[in-house]
Amino acid sequence: MRKFFSEINKPESPFRLALTFFIPFVVILSILFALLILWEKKSHDRKLTNTLKESAMALFDQIMITRLWNAQHGGVYVEVTPETPPNPYLEDPRRDIVSVDGRRYTKVNPAYMTRQLSEITMKRHGYKFRIISLYPVNPYNFPDEWERDALKKFEKGDVVENAEIFEQDGSRVFKYIAPLKVEESCLKCHAKHGYSYGDVRGGISIIIPMERYDLLYSMDFRKTIISMLTIAAVSTIFVAGITFIISKRLSSAIERDMERKRLAAIIELAGATAHEMRQPMTIVHNLIGLFKEKFEHREPLTEEEMNIINNQCDRMNNIIRKMLSITDYKTKDYIKGKKIIDLDESSKTEDKE
Ligand code: HEC
Repeated sequence: MRKFFSEINKPESPFRLALTFFIPFVVILSILFALLILWEKKSHDRKLTNTLKESAMALFDQIMITRLWNAQHGGVYVEVTPETPPNPYLEDPRRDIVSVDGRRYTKVNPAYMTRQLSEITMKRHGYKFRIISLYPVNPYNFPDEWERDALKKFEKGDVVENAEIFEQDGSRVFKYIAPLKVEESCLKCHAKHGYSYGDVRGGISIIIPMERYDLLYSMDFRKTIISMLTIAAVSTIFVAGITFIISKRLSSAIERDMERKRLAAIIELAGATAHEMRQPMTIVHNLIGLFKEKFEHREPLTEEEMNIINNQCDRMNNIIRKMLSITDYKTKDYIKGKKIIDLDESSKTEDKE
């Protein structure tokens, strides 16, 4: 309980008091903001994946319709140009024809058309798509590993589509793949490859580069971070101010309380001193009066009287010694609800702490 004495002598500084409130606030705020940022990043990726998937699905649908239109015509003739040479994989005796005015035309099958459409889309939007198959006639249509896994699942009928984000050369790409079902019109050319109606014999994979989206998002994200930091800074300054003001008030209240305790301790010590010393002092005082009288009548002092004085002096000495060795703050009830320091209890040397 030596603490009491050190406590009443060392007032709490308002700055330290403010820190005890402020540090937990800053820690909690930081954790909260970190979680918020993480959550925001996660939900953004989820939203972006959904948006990209919708775009990919719309594109896939468009490709399918165009391919079907082509297939329904059993392929479409276009003029031969350096960009559109005859397709060596298309086995058709009427693949190449010449018009009456001598122009050369070649039949473009859906897969060939898909490649050309992809080139245009690539130039216009940066999207790429590809027709693929596990057993392609054209080696160009071989799937990569991810596409192969998806195609196998499609063939088993496990899933109807697959979408994923990939890191590629430092930037991200979104990949989407869905199966191609064999229609009646496909069999004109593919019956000989063992295709039959309703089969899944391949798929179309779409690659959307995410650079543009990521760039837009990183600008957006920067704004979010800046506004979050602003909110954090403003609330931190606000809370710092408030805690400092409260702590200042609290610390002066504590200071006043200590002042009161100090005063109480002094009064209680004075009370104890008065209480303990009064009796021996009175005895000594009375004996001195007696000695004076005896001295006037030339009467001798008895040894017993001397002993009494000696004992009372010892008693007082003992009280002083106890006062000097106070290590604790223990009080006892005195008269009229007042308390005084309990010298015996307060000066016990086998004090804990
Ligand atoms: C006019 C003939 C023709 C029609 C109609 C046709 N295809 Fe093809 N298809 C081909 C040729 C030829 C190839 C391979 C060469 C290439 O890549 O152009 C091919 C390639 C493919 C591939 C890629 C795998 C490979 O073998 O290289 C798939 C998958 C495919 N076709 C599915 C279909 C589906 C589904 C339909 C019906 C909607 C269809 N095809 C209609 C001629 C045709």
